[in-house]
Amino acid sequence: MERNEFIKSLGLGVALVCTGSCMTGCGSKSDNPTPSPGGGPGGGTTGTKVNVDLSTQLLSVGSFISSGGVLFVRLATGNTTSSFTATQATCPHQGGTLNWIQASSLIECALHASQYTPAGGIVRQPSDGGTTAALKVYATSISGTTLTATIS
Ligand code: FES
Repeated sequence: MERNEFIKSLGLGVALVCTGSCMTGCGSKSDNPTPSPGGGPGGGTTGTKVNVDLSTQLLSVGSFISSGGVLFVRLATGNTTSSFTATQATCPHQGGTLNWIQASSLIECALHASQYTPAGGIVRQPSDGGTTAALKVYATSISGTTLTATIS
């Protein structure tokens, strides 16, 4: 075998190896939201109560906090349950972190920028072309200065 032929055959072999490993590495990802047991990704365990102390947290309209798998957002002044929303803390699409965007009054995923209403409705699908699902929204109650969400 001539040197040139040997190099050409070697190059083809490398190309095939690269193609195979790239195809494996780029395997399909699921865009089907698959809730995990207990309220979806980051949703915590069903029945768990998660508390926020309103004397020190969520003091201003538009403030938000993730705790125990729950994203709490203060939507209005006053310490009544209608002043808050409590949703799952991570995105149903692929588990990205959810943040409150006060300027648009929407919840937005940090990973693929999907957006949701405070009631969990989908406003914008993920930027990667995938499909997300509505957010789980949890029942809340207030006792004194303690806001409680019950994961369902
Ligand atoms: S993980 Fe949130 S949009 Fe993809």
